[in-house]
Amino acid sequence: MTRHFLRDDDLAPGELIEVLDLAAELKADRFSAKPLAGPQTVAVFFDKTSTRTRISFATGIADLGGSPLIIDSGASQLGHKESIADTAHVLERQVAAIVWRTYAQSGLEEMADNSSVPVVNALSDDFHPCQLLADLLTIREHRGNDSAGGLAGLTLSYFGDGANNMAHSYALAGANAGMHVRIAAPEGYHPDAGILADAEDLAARTGGSVSVTTDPASAASGADALVTDTWVSMGQDSAGRAGGESPFAPYQVNAARLAESADAIVLHCLPAYRGSEITADVLDGPNSVIWDEAENRLHAQKGLLAWLLAKR
Ligand code: CP
Ligand code: NVA
Repeated sequence: MTRHFLRDDDLAPGELIEVLDLAAELKADRFSAKPLAGPQTVAVFFDKTSTRTRISFATGIADLGGSPLIIDSGASQLGHKESIADTAHVLERQVAAIVWRTYAQSGLEEMADNSSVPVVNALSDDFHPCQLLADLLTIREHRGNDSAGGLAGLTLSYFGDGANNMAHSYALAGANAGMHVRIAAPEGYHPDAGILADAEDLAARTGGSVSVTTDPASAASGADALVTDTWVSMGQDSAGRAGGESPFAPYQVNAARLAESADAIVLHCLPAYRGSEITADVLDGPNSVIWDEAENRLHAQKGLLAWLLAKR
């Protein structure tokens, strides 16, 4: 049966570890697997801008023996003249997989409902699950423990906009990995209640936990990984969000936050805004693993594509 990856819990906990293991194998021997040999094409649509996702999918698809077809917003009929369902039916006859960065999660669901080839969420308003595969791979490399999968029991603390795609993905993916996820965010910017409930249910099964707080110091206390994200996500109005008046200002990841943690590693999906959600000394300092994290987008997505293609 065709498997899709639209949100972080589309992989069962054991499957998440399989994908991370495959990613690590492909990182160790980059050109060893060619499941897209032919070459087969993978269509990669962007309705929002991108550097990392664009480069890592194009490079990863080529590494796997395939041919990436990058289609920017406005360059196809999708979203203008043709429905998502009709687009899916055209694509499924020709390409091996569909990768899509877009706004509404419902659009991805409609694409998947009409596609016999895997559909992958390359970021939506609600989730960024490919980024989380890279983040978990990075945390495992730097802080992995003896648990099955290497992540269970670690504490990951997120600071800032608790209602955005990254916060939702940290909650779901962290819970999936058996981690303790803390989200520190101001009132009015807490995660979607339904997504939070899904993450809590998942954590109850994996031995992890998910908590939300307005207190950044308690969230940082003893944490293994500190993470943050832009205060203004793509598609959002910056009014009232950016700058000194931002409600997120108390949630900045800085030297004080780091000092409260367990000498945590620091992650950021990038692009970063030094002086806003994170200070330059921390982002560019010795605890930062952001360049490993950015590189791991390549390896993680290759693991994901190879895994999804093997399930067909
Ligand atoms: N982290 C991330 O998804 O970066 P891009 O927006 O550059 O793809
Ligand atoms: N929350 C950010 C993530 C960017 C990779 C955004 O959606 O713009």
